[in-house]
Amino acid sequence: MEIAFLFVLSYFLGACPFGYWIGKIFYHEDIRTAGSGNIGTTNTFRVLGVKAGSAVMVLDVLKGTLAASLPHIFGISMGIWTNPFIIGLAAIIGHMFSIWIGFKGGKAVATTAGVLLAYDPHVFVLAVIVFAGFIFLTSMVSVGSIVAFLAVDAYSLFNHDWFLFTIAAVLTVFIIYKHRTNIVRIIHGNENQTPFGLVYWL
Ligand code: G3P
Repeated sequence: MEIAFLFVLSYFLGACPFGYWIGKIFYHEDIRTAGSGNIGTTNTFRVLGVKAGSAVMVLDVLKGTLAASLPHIFGISMGIWTNPFIIGLAAIIGHMFSIWIGFKGGKAVATTAGVLLAYDPHVFVLAVIVFAGFIFLTSMVSVGSIVAFLAVDAYSLFNHDWFLFTIAAVLTVFIIYKHRTNIVRIIHGNENQTPFGLVYWL
């Protein structure tokens, strides 16, 4: 019963579509109909600017961290079921398939980062460095996101952390699926670029 409560709460936390809500409430704009149509941090920066983008980034990361920390917050410990990454998965699914917007949602990069932060801050730092490094090299956030997930796979494999490897591998499949339109644009050379990278200025 307690476990079900944690999963449901985690799902509802993850399902909060902050990009969509901030766009609607403060800018009277539906972020889903602008830019890439994604409700996440990147598209919020792109469409609504730095203030809204930063707010969505912080909120999307924090909801992942908060969701993954629920067992700790409520003092519930039931082995693998209350592992931060297992509970956090419900938030990641909530972000991808949000009840508030017809079970559609974002790519869950920031929310997964938040879950990672609660699970193991070292992996979080590694993922952020790889993410930022690849954005800097390619000017494409999508490339940074996908490679960051692959880096977590490689890290867990290298460290024989089979628990993290299994979850990260499943999430990588989801992330690649969620980035399928980005991947097509990358292949055709017309993926959106961010000014935070080298290629943008070349
Ligand atoms: O975190 C999402 C990012 O990888 C891509 O976002 O809006 O360019 O599809 P977007």
